[in-house]
Amino acid sequence: MESSRMAFLGWVLAFLSGPSTGYPNGKVKEACSSMMPLHGHVPQKFPKHTAEVNVTQFKPGEHVKVTLSGPTFEGFFLQARDAENLEGAAIGSFVLADKKRSQLLTCGHVKNSAVSHTSKAKKTQVDAYWIAPQNSPKRIQFLVTVVEKYSIFWVKIPGPVISQPNTPILTTTVAANVTLPTSLTQVFNASECGTNKFCVRNPWSCDPKAEDCFFLSFRHDHPDSVMVEMSGPSEGYIAFALSDDQWMGGGDDAYLCISEDHHIDIKTASLVGRTYPELDSEDSLEEKSWRMADGLIQCSFRRKINLPAFQGRVNLDASYYIFLADGDVNEGGAVQKHDRQPLITDGKQNITGPPKDIGGSRSPFLIKIHGALMFVAWMTTVSIGAIVARFFKPVWSHSLLFGEEIWFQVHRGLMMMTVLLTSTSFVLPFLYRGGWSKEAGIHPYLGCTVMALAVFQPLMAGFRPPPQAPRRQGKGGEKVELPEW
Ligand code: HEM
Ligand SMILES: *[C@@H]1O[C@H](CO)[C@@H](O)[C@H](O)[C@H]1NC(C)=O
Ligand SMILES: *[C@@H]1O[C@H](CO)[C@@H](O)[C@H](O)[C@H]1NC(C)=O
Ligand SMILES: *[C@@H]1O[C@H](CO)[C@@H](O)[C@H](O)[C@H]1NC(C)=O
Ligand SMILES: *[C@@H]1O[C@H](CO)[C@@H](O)[C@H](O)[C@H]1NC(C)=O
Repeated sequence: MESSRMAFLGWVLAFLSGPSTGYPNGKVKEACSSMMPLHGHVPQKFPKHTAEVNVTQFKPGEHVKVTLSGPTFEGFFLQARDAENLEGAAIGSFVLADKKRSQLLTCGHVKNSAVSHTSKAKKTQVDAYWIAPQNSPKRIQFLVTVVEKYSIFWVKIPGPVISQPNTPILTTTVAANVTLPTSLTQVFNASECGTNKFCVRNPWSCDPKAEDCFFLSFRHDHPDSVMVEMSGPSEGYIAFALSDDQWMGGGDDAYLCISEDHHIDIKTASLVGRTYPELDSEDSLEEKSWRMADGLIQCSFRRKINLPAFQGRVNLDASYYIFLADGDVNEGGAVQKHDRQPLITDGKQNITGPPKDIGGSRSPFLIKIHGALMFVAWMTTVSIGAIVARFFKPVWSHSLLFGEEIWFQVHRGLMMMTVLLTSTSFVLPFLYRGGWSKEAGIHPYLGCTVMALAVFQPLMAGFRPPPQAPRRQGKGGEKVELPEW
């Protein structure tokens, strides 16, 4: 398949460009956990390459020579892991034996914890030195991925196990898990929303079978994990995030299903600012599967309710605002800003609590502008206007501007500005809700009252007789126009 060749080429190029663009290169880091070079292809079964070491035991700080050899290969990816927890993070760090043909990569939080090739030049052997860390597990195992060419590769080939002195000998060897996201066989359905699973739907009646709406569900079917299903129309990505507030950023916990070259990548990320989310290299999700059809992305995975803090995921037994976003992916596979305002649930939700079936609203961008304009109008223009009338009237009383006293011109200008800003801002919530905001309590009523007064006040001022007129009350011109705004 031509496209998968391209994907592979992309991978090789990503490795190749490592030193020039400065690594860790994103693509390589993403392989840290799965050690999978590309997702479109299935790894080979029976490895022909072997990794060997020059010791059987190690002490913290010691160097161990690792030699990878076998039939001609182009690429490789080497790590050491806890032999009892091969799904865990890379352990210890490496130093290079051959700087031309190999490079150091940082997986997780340990610098230089993996080694990879620098070019796809053919090779039959590579050496590297592994340095045992101070807090090393008792027993570690080397794992290596070898790429022979294009789509022929082996993932997590089990290498030698070495141990610290006085560690009982391991009798059973655990095979490394190569977890490939599988294809979803079933289309999601909403039949258990609110009874057995917690659903967020947009629009609220969304049936994921209808293929034109957004659907997210959490099924708390296991004491310590949750099964997540997400579906929505997108050519690029669909994502949800859990947040403590209604704002994007500040470390929101995000889950993205990204369409990449005819397959879906299921990734986690932290939304730190309002920018491109930094995709995590560590994989904290299980049982990933996906399906893609006619512009609809569907993905599902399982997540533990509590994960170790270093993985940067929030605990699922608390309440969060849930965001739903979708957008495009550029040629490099990076997610772009959502095309439209993401959906935000009304209030914080406990997805592990009693199942609910809820909707949300596309983030009130119009409401934000509404707030901003009102803020400017009532915090700045109106107060400055009042101050000018109250305090600068005697100071500027004899200077004229366009035939009127200058204080009055400034005052009137600012007050007209206020009315203008208020009126503009007033329309926005109606546009956003497409009518009256029923659930907003007293706010809309107060708002309308203020709007009416804001129009009424200058009208009344307009009807006042001129300062010199005999019908004018108060001492001529002493009274402030439009005073208590
Ligand atoms: C490349 C990726 C992204 C970029 C550049 C980006 C950028 C932005 C910007 C600039 C805003 C505010 C401005 C506006 O209202 O138009 C915003 C709002 C928002 N974004 Fe993103 N975003 C990205 C991805 C995501 C993802 C993956 C999610 C979560 C699923 C998300 C959730 C939200 C939410 C809920 C809002 C509305 C609340 C707010 O204004 O903070 N964003 N985004
Ligand atoms: C194994 O190789 C490392 C690195 O070259 C070296 O420091 C160490 O002494 C060697 N160990 C043995 C037993 O040869
Ligand atoms: C591999 O995955 C399966 C199912 O997810 C799990 O039961 C098994 O314990 C895993 N093996 C290792 C070595 O982690
Ligand atoms: C909905 O999906 C579940 C599996 O997630 C399946 O057991 C059930 O039969 C489906 N219901 C309908 C009405 O398709
Ligand atoms: C959420 O629900 C879970 C399970 O019912 C419960 O243990 C947890 O305390 C709840 N959290 C909050 C913040 O209500």
